Amino acid sequence: MHSTETERTFPPAAENRHAALLGIGTYRPRRIVTNEEICRTLDSDPDWIVRRSGISTRPFAQSDETLVEMGATAAGKALAEAGMAPTDVDQILVATMSDLEGGDELAAEIGRRLGVAARGVKVSAACAGFTVGLSLAASTVTSGAARNCLLVAVERMSDILDPLDRGTAFLFSDGAGAAVVGQAAEPGIGPVVWGTEPELADAITVRPEPEHDGRPYLRMQGASVFRWAVTNLPGVVETALSRSGLAPGDLQAFVPHQANLRIIESVADSVGFPEHVAIARDIVDQGNASAASIPLALDRMRTSGTLRSGDLALLIGFGAGLSYAATVIRMP
Ligand code: UT7
Repeated sequence: MHSTETERTFPPAAENRHAALLGIGTYRPRRIVTNEEICRTLDSDPDWIVRRSGISTRPFAQSDETLVEMGATAAGKALAEAGMAPTDVDQILVATMSDLEGGDELAAEIGRRLGVAARGVKVSAACAGFTVGLSLAASTVTSGAARNCLLVAVERMSDILDPLDRGTAFLFSDGAGAAVVGQAAEPGIGPVVWGTEPELADAITVRPEPEHDGRPYLRMQGASVFRWAVTNLPGVVETALSRSGLAPGDLQAFVPHQANLRIIESVADSVGFPEHVAIARDIVDQGNASAASIPLALDRMRTSGTLRSGDLALLIGFGAGLSYAATVIRMP
């Protein structure tokens, strides 16, 4: 046995750190697309779209509203709310499924636009990207590997939509949401419940289609995903609540991925939230913005006064993979 002058231990004892959301920011594209406009190309009907999905309008990004521009704008607002300088950020996580060009370059580009010289990592969890990223960011902060993480969820789903596809063309949309996750005196992000459903691995795909024009397109077996969601998500919500030591009535809001209004309402009914728990319905005029849908919905509830600082909200994301992740957060 070696003796040393000072006792050393490996690994060093963990410090008792907590992580919380410190700021949120969003970006909604300028151009609003109605169901009537979608149905000029798609073999569908505006009323059918409202009945089956709850969507009336959705924003589609124009050419200047790039992933970098939208992501950096949302992130800049989140940093301002958190009262942070770019140098306070040690890691950028970018959740997206519509950046088909590469790996971590988008995170680096967004960092460069903001003047953040932190390591950038892409999170590939599709529509679950924000909640998966939130949990990764919280672990990074509580482990001490970063003081503050910037999580950016940004999508241009309109780039990968086939306007003739009756199962997707009317559903998805564009936008960005960002959050700063940093150290806090009290825990502000609960334990995550996450997983994948391998049997539905091919239910949502984005692949190049040589028989089409060679570009990648989003394809979805909508009815299978719908059935899986309404059957399984209530149990995931209940597990996330019980791991946080909470009952449904302890929440101020339920903010699920904005995939389909019928899924949102069915899951909320199955869990049985009391009336004072607000249910996010951002989908009506935002559509399904994939990874960005949850921060967009959260921000809307804040701006409208439904959620206030200190309130508890349960977030649940799910999508391609099939991946899902749920956690309770305290509002900044
Ligand atoms: O964000 C990732 C996670 N994604 C989701 O959670 C999406 C889950 N799925 C859904 O939201 C729904 O499946 C959709 C909104 C995509 C589709 O709604 P649905 O009620 O599942 O439609 P369906 O595919 O079961 O089709 C029902 C009927 C069919 O007609 P018949 O066979 O009953 O006569 C379809 O041919 O609706 C017809 N239909 C349409 N009619 C007008 C299918 N698509 C359309 C359309 N317009 N676009």
